Amino acid sequence: MSRWSTLLIDHASLGLLPKVPTAEVMRHAELVAEAKPKPKQLYERWESQQWSAEAVELERDRRAFDRLLPSDAKESLSESIATFIIGEYTGLDLLAPILTGAPEEQDHLYLGTQIADETRHTRLMLRLGEELLGLDRDPKMMLAQAWALVTPTHRTLSVLETEVVRELLNHPGDYRRWLRAVALFHLVTEGMLALVGQRAIVNALRDAPFLEGVRSSFVAMCRDESRHVSYGLHALRIGVQEGYADDICEIIEQAAPLAMQIGDEGATDDTEEGRTLWRMSRDSLRRQLRLIGVDDMLTQHIVQRAITPSARDQS
Ligand SMILES: [Fe+2]
Ligand SMILES: [Fe+2]
Repeated sequence: MSRWSTLLIDHASLGLLPKVPTAEVMRHAELVAEAKPKPKQLYERWESQQWSAEAVELERDRRAFDRLLPSDAKESLSESIATFIIGEYTGLDLLAPILTGAPEEQDHLYLGTQIADETRHTRLMLRLGEELLGLDRDPKMMLAQAWALVTPTHRTLSVLETEVVRELLNHPGDYRRWLRAVALFHLVTEGMLALVGQRAIVNALRDAPFLEGVRSSFVAMCRDESRHVSYGLHALRIGVQEGYADDICEIIEQAAPLAMQIGDEGATDDTEEGRTLWRMSRDSLRRQLRLIGVDDMLTQHIVQRAITPSARDQS
């Protein structure tokens, strides 16, 4: 199974996604990124990886969530879902100016697929909010409820994203501002936070067959995220080659410490699992900076600055 499982996660239907081994989900995005796919190839992957947010079966999960899950696990899953309700909705909201500012036609086509993905993710998170957590079914009310559940650092990062994207909205053809928005959104929010958070949920539910609908949801989102992160790396690699490394690194340096801190807050206690997630965020920051062509000294500086406020002995 493991020999061909990368192939399986790439081609699995929604019904088969829960069967993909956790280890394969954990390394899938890196394998896709290492192949350095171009926007056209990412578009083709998207066409072959369609799934339906409405088709995810949640009835059994809802009963299990209410009756079987221990209260601490329930609380932790609820907080994670609340984070994704806000994250997916704001992601959808922020991508429109990034789509408008796309430098090439193929980028424009790819970004259209990502907007479709974030719409699907938002719809699925609204379902989880309503059907699992029992939040208000009106999205406006649910978003306010979920906003109250996310940490103050997460709110600070969301506000920073809004500022950076508003700058782009006011200067739609400005490539430098476009790269800053892509660096913040694709590399930090998606590459460091979303991907790590999705994998944490998939991993936490590996022995919880009664929550198969939730697990399928997050495996599907992980697979989509591998395309989103790969696109960000492609766009930023070109930005670095064209002389915009300082602009890209400046916003990453500002946002990465927040992402590390959010990861720290998500790890409620000093468990091995919490330390693993923290290392995954740190390592993905380092790997992504190298993949876009930032030199070793600057990479080391950004990573060190990102981990300093919350550095752990075990790192
Ligand atoms: Fe998403
Ligand atoms: Fe995404």
